[in-house]
Amino acid sequence: MNKSKVVVITGASSGIGEATAKLLAKDGSKLVLGARRENRLKDIAESIEKLGGEAAYQSTDVTDDDQVESLAKLAIDKFGRIDVWLNNAGIMPQSILSEKKITDWNNMIDINIKGTLYGIGAAIPYMDKQKSGHIINVSSVAGHTAHQGSAVYSATKFAVRAISESLRQEMVDAKNNVRVTVISPGAINTELLSSVTDPDVKANMEKFYESFGIPVDRVALTIKEAIDMPADAAWNEVIIRPTNQLV
Ligand SMILES: NC(=O)c1ccc[n+]([C@@H]2O[C@H](COP(=O)([O-])OP(=O)(O)OC[C@H]3O[C@@H](n4cnc5c(N)ncnc54)[C@H](OP(=O)(O)O)[C@@H]3O)[C@@H](O)[C@H]2O)c1
Repeated sequence: MNKSKVVVITGASSGIGEATAKLLAKDGSKLVLGARRENRLKDIAESIEKLGGEAAYQSTDVTDDDQVESLAKLAIDKFGRIDVWLNNAGIMPQSILSEKKITDWNNMIDINIKGTLYGIGAAIPYMDKQKSGHIINVSSVAGHTAHQGSAVYSATKFAVRAISESLRQEMVDAKNNVRVTVISPGAINTELLSSVTDPDVKANMEKFYESFGIPVDRVALTIKEAIDMPADAAWNEVIIRPTNQLV
């Protein structure tokens, strides 16, 4: 891979974002890390330097467009370009619709959908100028199918896929060589279940993840493969699911 790639990651303070940052650091990538927990980002940035990469970080709430724009500016100020933007920040407070958990609905829409849109909006002007770039959006198996309790989470992850396909076509039209990839993980052991607010749903999901969840580095490897693909080809859609996960 091009060892000097500049990669911006939202939701970089744990789970998939953290694992991807650390894996890419081993190749000498320059990482720009955003999430709300700045102390975590600081520790991860220090690990990245030890692994041979370079890192910058900034407290970023992806529901605030100004903060997302500022993360993009940090990448430009520090490293001069943005080669990859990974829209990874997300939460999964699932519950049945009749519970009417409006705060959870709004948070999922704001973080999972609007956060992704703000990331795209922040990155594209720089990629347009460069005439190259790669936007990677994290959807989910729940972005391919819905079930009881997953309505709003699935809706946000279906939305990520719809946004990504529109973006892909718009980038082709713009002739700016910007690649678009959607990564849809299945059950991956991260801190994601801490965002579930309904205790019964959480208990059920914990059981499911204990049975089927796989280590987070599987997704990091998938993202790295997508980045390493020659620039004239793109993995547009990837599902990375535990071998033994049925749905
Ligand atoms: N784990 C799975 O089984 C699985 C399956 C399918 C899809 N996914 C998707 O994978 C992505 C990463 O999740 P994960 O599994 O790695 O869980 P995680 O360990 O909980 O990571 C989620 C990340 O999102 C960040 N985040 C949450 N709200 C944010 C906000 N308002 N602004 C900025 N960052 C925010 C968190 O950081 P702060 O709290 O520090 O802000 C954290 O770094 C999510 O989009 C999730 O939907 C996960």
